[in-house]
Amino acid sequence: VVLSLRTFSTDQKAKDPYDNIPDSILSITQRKIYKQDGHPLSTLIEKIEGFFGQGQISDLHIPGEKFKVFSDFPPLVKVKECFDDLGIPEDHVSRRITDTYYKSRDTCLRPHTSVHQIPLMRAGNNAFICVGDVYRKDTVDKTHYPAFHQMEGVRTYDLKTLGVGNVAEAKLIAERDLKQVLENLARLVFGDVEMRWIDAYFPFTEPSIELEIFYNNEWLEVLGCGVIHDKVMTRAGKDITNEVGWAFGLGLERWAMKLFDISDIRLFWSQDPRFITQFKQGHITKFKPYSRFPTCYKDLAFWVPPHFNENEFFQIVRHVSGDLAETVECIDKFTHPKTGRESQCFRINYRHMDRSLTNEEVDQFQVKLRQLVASELQCELR
Ligand code: PHE
Repeated sequence: VVLSLRTFSTDQKAKDPYDNIPDSILSITQRKIYKQDGHPLSTLIEKIEGFFGQGQISDLHIPGEKFKVFSDFPPLVKVKECFDDLGIPEDHVSRRITDTYYKSRDTCLRPHTSVHQIPLMRAGNNAFICVGDVYRKDTVDKTHYPAFHQMEGVRTYDLKTLGVGNVAEAKLIAERDLKQVLENLARLVFGDVEMRWIDAYFPFTEPSIELEIFYNNEWLEVLGCGVIHDKVMTRAGKDITNEVGWAFGLGLERWAMKLFDISDIRLFWSQDPRFITQFKQGHITKFKPYSRFPTCYKDLAFWVPPHFNENEFFQIVRHVSGDLAETVECIDKFTHPKTGRESQCFRINYRHMDRSLTNEEVDQFQVKLRQLVASELQCELR
């Protein structure tokens, strides 16, 4: 069964055939929670921006020099800029329609803020940070949500500023500076934590590394970074015989979840006043969980079609009920003794973050779910 991975053409007008962005995601692009006063993401961003806006952030840092801040670029970007120009190959998994939200063949919701590196360097910026909402198709659970936030940072230098005669040496200095800057940043935000650097791979940096910190008794990967790849420098209009640079990208929710003790990533999007009123702009305080609204579960059983893939079912559940489906689990499997057909029964737990769901509401999801499962998976319901 080949499931149409586009947004099940139920309630839409003529859409671009490449468009796989559901309305629920489109509306999220309007929320701008990272700019909301008092929101933990906003406080964290302010803190990091403060770091890059003042003081000596590394030995190489020129006193008074500030990183320019960009935080208003819309998330809809060119596919070429967010993949091809950064050296991400055509067949890379992140480019599949199951992983990225495409608006058309040439445009998508940015899956990372790295998309802005080249255009910003090209425009003449040599020290900047860039913040924004990013989007990746993903399972939904406590630590994954299809929308989250990243901060990108870039710094470039010429050989004269570094006082060295060749590029190889300059790259070593840039890497040392990168590590120093990010260790200082991590210490400012997380306190006096143990840190370690791990080799990594990104097509747009060489070498590529990741920073891990030891926080609350566990090693936590906090960012990816590296020395900007020559091909990227060249595309940004830099003279690679005279200039080098570094770049990093960090996931803000990961940091904020640890700092504010927010154990479920979906809470960042909550509109329940019991969430936002706990926080005050500029203050990092621990979140106190409030009692959650009850779950309501419904079961659905069907004769599974040949080559059935559970993910296809999960995707339909997600399509019908968005975030409200908290968990989906197979609770029973049964093979008919005569026909040999297999039946599976799934239990879907529905829960709203901000209010109680009514039984009628949930029944409506279930009606739609039954229709779509029957038509998209071409299977017989029980
Ligand atoms: N864009 C990378 C990611 O999303 C992070 C990164 C940014 C790595 C800049 C290196 C340099 O995982």
